[in-house]
Amino acid sequence: MTHNVKGFSKLSKEEKIDWITNTYFENPEEAKESILKYWNSDENLQKLHDEFIENTLTNFYLPYGVAPNFTINGKSYTIPMAIEESSVVAAASKAAKFWGERGGFKTSIINTEKIGQVHFLFHGNAEKITTFFNKIKPIFFDDTKEITKNMQKRGGGILNIELRDKTNEIPNYYQLHATFNTKDSMGANFINTCLEQFAKTLENQAQEHTDFTTDEKNIQIIMSILSNYVPNCLVRVEVSCPLSEISDDKNIDANEFAQKFATAVRIAEIEPYRAVTHNKGIMNGIDAVVLATGNDFRAVEAGIHAYASKSGQYSSLSHVKIENDIFTFWMEIPLALGTVGGLTSLHPLVKFSMELLGKPSAEELMQIVAAAGLAQNFAALRSLTTTGIQQGHMKMHLMNILNQHHATKEEKQKVLDYFKDTTVSHSLVVDYLEKIRS
Ligand code: MEV
Repeated sequence: MTHNVKGFSKLSKEEKIDWITNTYFENPEEAKESILKYWNSDENLQKLHDEFIENTLTNFYLPYGVAPNFTINGKSYTIPMAIEESSVVAAASKAAKFWGERGGFKTSIINTEKIGQVHFLFHGNAEKITTFFNKIKPIFFDDTKEITKNMQKRGGGILNIELRDKTNEIPNYYQLHATFNTKDSMGANFINTCLEQFAKTLENQAQEHTDFTTDEKNIQIIMSILSNYVPNCLVRVEVSCPLSEISDDKNIDANEFAQKFATAVRIAEIEPYRAVTHNKGIMNGIDAVVLATGNDFRAVEAGIHAYASKSGQYSSLSHVKIENDIFTFWMEIPLALGTVGGLTSLHPLVKFSMELLGKPSAEELMQIVAAAGLAQNFAALRSLTTTGIQQGHMKMHLMNILNQHHATKEEKQKVLDYFKDTTVSHSLVVDYLEKIRS
């Protein structure tokens, strides 16, 4: 059975909900109730959310938590995290406290350059297009003056534009490869607007260029778009301490733990199957802060994973060294973030996050996000190489199991007490719950 619908986007929100629930659900009233339950009683707030995207039916909640006690470059932060995975905030908080007692996270910005490209076909002589490009290069800057005026006032703008010959890979394929500094904005709209103007300038100037043949004058623009691969928009984060202080558990020998931890990182450096999961742990921390601060987590994910493959083989983002009895753990990651524009001044919880973080610049936010990522990676590796991941994970997941089985407050307390020093598994929890109930 097909359920195609014409003009869906023109229906009112109520009509859309009626159509969806009546078409797809066995019990439309119950389905409608699920949707309405998540509407916000503040009409203005609901309208704001409705208008973020098309065809909004309701809101989709994620828990919004905080990880306190982060020390980054000597400054203390409570970091907001939006994430559904039970153990992430707890792990970040634990790692923050651990490293806070050992000098905290040291971060630095390596560069903040963003990239955009105009992809086009030129049917002609490579030398002629190079001469043409060099001649018209200043016109690209002139023609975008109005677009770049405000960005320039803030210290940003277009850094450079290059012509790249890609005809070895695709016949007649060239690029304008442009670099930008977008200061505190993520810059996607700014970059794309500049690029679309570059494309127009390129087309128009080619038409007027007297040295070109008719074929050469007809440059074919394929597309103009920023790149989410930003290997020159980089932040570095590091933690270090004397080897003797790397274990805070008297049952775990510091040297043995450090060696095991370092081996775990090296495995992720050479083994892509492990590297993906290792980096996923880093992204647990990164995505949660990126989401809570209203940034584009898809762009961040795409850029970081591409960076993890820069050698030609997907590898660990983080690295470790043990030298002169000092344990050092670090990573460098690309992060294109904004603290102005986009959702930052619109979404009330994003505004809340920004104030909680002390209204950071984009550079400061890059450093906070990187620290959350490394903290998460440290916590995961520490569990993996000592107790195993399930102990902590299942403890945090216990509440989900109890909620799935509609445990009462009293039942929850009894189960929590029982599993305080016992390994949690789904079936053990259900068995114990049944025992209490009988
Ligand atoms: C789970 O969300 C993340 C981990 O798998 C990361 C890792 O294995 O390093 C625990």
